[in-house]
Parts: sequence; structure tokens; C-alpha cells
Amino acid sequence: TGSFEHALESLRAGEPILVHDAADREGETDLIYHADNVTPEAVARLRNDAGGLVCVALGHEIAEAFDLPFYSDVVDHPATADHELGYDDRSSFSLTVNHRDTYTGITDNDRSTTIRALGEAAAAPEETEFAEEFRVPGHVHLLRAAPDLLAQREGHTELGVALANAADLSPAVVVCEMLDDETSEALSPADARAYADRHGFAYLEGRDVLDHCR
Ligand code: 5RP
Ligand code: CA
Ligand code: ZN
Ligand code: ZN
Repeated sequence: TGSFEHALESLRAGEPILVHDAADREGETDLIYHADNVTPEAVARLRNDAGGLVCVALGHEIAEAFDLPFYSDVVDHPATADHELGYDDRSSFSLTVNHRDTYTGITDNDRSTTIRALGEAAAAPEETEFAEEFRVPGHVHLLRAAPDLLAQREGHTELGVALANAADLSPAVVVCEMLDDETSEALSPADARAYADRHGFAYLEGRDVLDHCR
């Protein structure tokens, strides 16, 4: 369809897209950019217009190349023993990182530096010494996509990485939930679509991504 192609072109052009997972899952719409060329202005849009948690989703092979674990697998604390979620089998959270060229790590300049560097690292994992480039903990949450991507899990982590693959880009996207200041809940799909229309951004349902990518 037109919006699927528009979404791929947007990712290639450094523009954001919106992806709603499914009403019977999180029921959230994430604002998503490819990690390459994420500017400070893009990070400002993520925190002002989306407002959720700014995370970078990486393809499974990239996470493996950099030895990035699932958070719950490596933190030895009783609170990680039962990682029961209401909407999926498991979380995709890995480590949090800052690029070593950042100061606090939280500013728009710093987070965009970290995110762009993650995009570069994902494009050339064999040329990247991860621990030399990034420090842990940091202010950008990493997410690990499932090995078999959408065949295994249908989260924004996998939806975003599948879209990067379809766009012939490296498997690294930044995702952030659209929240609603009025209701204090996730932004409704109708309001997320209206935001996309106002700005000329592509809006996709998880189902559209599954139909095209799986
Ligand atoms: C991290 C999250 C988001 O929902 C993000 O979209 C990644 O999670 P998932 O792959 O489960 O959708 O909770 O802020
Ligand atoms: Ca806001
Ligand atoms: Zn999500
Ligand atoms: Zn979420």
C-alpha cells in the first residue's frame, strides 16, 4: 500500500513514522526513526511529542555481535526473577548506554550522539569495539529483537527492525511511545493517526507490517 512505501521512504529520509502495535497487545503507538542521522531536533520531538521512553531497537545479529544481553538475564536481583508481562512473553530490554563522547548523556545533543553512533555500529559491527565506544549504564535503552523477528514476537522492537530491513537500512531504530497529556494514558490510535496526518508522517498498524514483512 501507499503508506507502507511512504513509511520506508521516511525511514530512509530521516523522517519519523508512527506504528501502532495492536489493540490486544500494548495498544501503543511508537514514534520511530531510523537511528542514522537522528538529530537533536528529532530527540526533542521524541520527548515533546511522543513523551515515552526513548529506546534503540537492534537486530538480533547486532546484539549478538556486541554481546548485548537481555537485562533480566544479567541482573541478579530478586525483582528480575519473575518477568511476567501482561501483553507479551518477555520484555526486549537490554542494557542502557551512552556514547563515550557524551557528558551527562541525557541532553538532546548527547542522546542524538549516542543514537547516531548506534546506527553506525549496527551498519559495521565488525568494525566496532562496543565497550570502547559506549559506556553502561546510560540514558538510551537498548532493545534486542527476537532472532526470528516477527515470526517470534510482534513488539515495536521487531516491527521497527523489520521496517528497517524492508527499507534496506541497518537494523537500528529509535522508538518512543506516544503518550496523552489529557488522559494520562497511551495516545489513542485515532489521535496518533491525527498527529501523523497533521505532520504528513506515515502511520502503520502492526498488521500492515506483518502483512508486508512476514
Ligand atoms: C519500551 C517499551 C516500548 O513499548 C517499545 O515499543 C518496545 O517494546 P515492545 O517491543 O514490547 O513493543 O515498552 O519503552
Ligand atoms: Ca508532550
Ligand atoms: Zn512497544
Ligand atoms: Zn511500551
